[in-house]
Amino acid sequence: MRPLSKAKAGWLLTAMLMVSATAGHASPATDPLAPTGRWTASDRGNAPTPPMGWNAWNAFQTDIDETKLMGSAQSLVDLGLAKLGYVYVNLDDGWWLKRRQPDQRMQVRAAAFPSARDGDNTNFRPMVDRLHAMGLKAGIYTDLGRNTCSQAYSPNGPNMPEGSTAEREVGIYDHVDGDIRTYFADWRFDYVKVDACGITDYTADRPHMKPYGYRVFDPIMFHGRPALNKNADIRALYQQVSDALAKYRPDNDYVFSICSWGQGDVRAWGKQVGNSWRTSDDLYPQWPRMLHNFDSASTRELYSHPGAWNDPDMLYVGAGDFDEAHLTEARTHFSLWAMIDAPLLIGYDLRKATKPLLDIWGNADIVALNQDKAGNQAVLAYRSGEIDILVKTLADGRKAVAVFNRDSQPFTATLTAGHLKFDATAPVTLTDLWTKEKQPPFDKELKIKLAAHETRVFMADGTRSLPQGLYLSEMTGRINVADDGVVAPEPDPEAFRTSSWGSTQGGGDWPVYTGWGGAQPDASPYSTGLAIGTKGFASGIGILANSRMEVRANAEFKRFTAEVGVDNATRNRSARVKFLVYGDGRLIAQTPPVGFGDPSARIDTDVSGVKIVELVARSSSGDAPVAVTWGNAALSR
Ligand code: GLA
Repeated sequence: MRPLSKAKAGWLLTAMLMVSATAGHASPATDPLAPTGRWTASDRGNAPTPPMGWNAWNAFQTDIDETKLMGSAQSLVDLGLAKLGYVYVNLDDGWWLKRRQPDQRMQVRAAAFPSARDGDNTNFRPMVDRLHAMGLKAGIYTDLGRNTCSQAYSPNGPNMPEGSTAEREVGIYDHVDGDIRTYFADWRFDYVKVDACGITDYTADRPHMKPYGYRVFDPIMFHGRPALNKNADIRALYQQVSDALAKYRPDNDYVFSICSWGQGDVRAWGKQVGNSWRTSDDLYPQWPRMLHNFDSASTRELYSHPGAWNDPDMLYVGAGDFDEAHLTEARTHFSLWAMIDAPLLIGYDLRKATKPLLDIWGNADIVALNQDKAGNQAVLAYRSGEIDILVKTLADGRKAVAVFNRDSQPFTATLTAGHLKFDATAPVTLTDLWTKEKQPPFDKELKIKLAAHETRVFMADGTRSLPQGLYLSEMTGRINVADDGVVAPEPDPEAFRTSSWGSTQGGGDWPVYTGWGGAQPDASPYSTGLAIGTKGFASGIGILANSRMEVRANAEFKRFTAEVGVDNATRNRSARVKFLVYGDGRLIAQTPPVGFGDPSARIDTDVSGVKIVELVARSSSGDAPVAVTWGNAALSR
């Protein structure tokens, strides 16, 4: 049977709701918008704050060995970085020798990792034990397919798997259970990064196939052709890994890092499956590439929360455009990653770390923003071609703000109390988290001078404009977008389009990461200002209709208020939308159906004692996406 389209199901259910006045418990099996009364994002793994540590790839590529890895691990401890939270020491591509036949047991390249030698076998356990004894954690790397990225992209490079075709199939495909058992139950790793070249780069026509005798993998992911990606299949394979991790590590003390480079619609479902997911292709140590990777995550604030983080790729502080001759750029790269709750994985040979670089990774104030336990990814309060202003609401209610000059010219930016959602009649005090200088208090606004490419990061103290509550856009870490209403994933045009390696061959860097039309704080799903008719909203959530959000209210609030309606950004001007609010699964407020051009409808409802508030927008007609706004949506005490 063909399942009902989501739009049709939504319409049917609206009709059902209208007949049954007390409706609110439609079966979740049939209705994706039915309230669940709980938080349904994955709770597997242990990443309450973004993972921090070190990874071998950016420093060594596949030229990795035990001396290099343990040297960097020792440096994490000796330099005080481990104490700041940099505890994961992660292998990347290049550690394996072969998949032994016929028992399929993975063999470590013991010539490079001598402590793994174990008679006829190999065993990473001694190395992992040593890392644990140093107070560190250990990460390993694999690929979702049969073969790896380096086997396709640098098949002549150092440390390629050896032996027959089958022996060189070191990826996890068809071996999920056995490999995860080896890595997690036997070797006791704490972190796994699962790459994806094996499901896309092993088609018969690729030049590495014949010379290296790899087995063809019928692709489920297609470079540059996101519409062809088999998103459900990709997700299902990653889910298998998640299930195996849960099986072999019932203590739940691990991190699952999904590396499908923004493909497979992972930017929408990553939080349901893993602890972090790459939102884009690889970062290179080039300024425009940093902009691109940053942008791929910066508008995805509502898809990240404690336990689940957008990952714009590992840090390149110390290399290329972010080396010691470019400390302004290096500080910017680091500040931005910290503000958007990206994993902070150092990609540098730490045995050679110098003071200026250490001052960046080691800036405890900036690290503290990244590790703030509320897990609210900074929200874009302002964006133009030159300037981004990012505001992060911290667990104690204070704000951090980053003012980022994307341009290669100096710029004087104006920061307003409004950007911070602070009362403009009360003083605001900023403390610079790089220079540690405290600025004299201002009200209304302050001019901030920025050098080319500079980011200034401040802790801001002031009077919150909602002193007794929080706008939902100030508590994104407590929101799970259970269904964002996107039916046909479209590439997101937002990410900065860079000319890779300076070349302008071909038609350019087309958008390929789907997620356009996704939910956004303080903006419509199409990155316009929130507006219902003539009324604009500086605060609120923009999302498509036929969506459901779960908000962790944790019985801390008394009222939920919002002004709701169809946003002017809608692609569908005929649909009518009904807004429903549930408290722990019970319908507690709803609006009559409203359409494009109608004034906003007001919701004001008691949420005393409610743990999970669910916000549902149901649309009557799904011919084209309907953008809706939960304007000024807030929980108050
Ligand atoms: C891919 C990943 C990188 C790195 C390499 C290893 O490109 O995105 O982070 O792991 O593979 O080959």
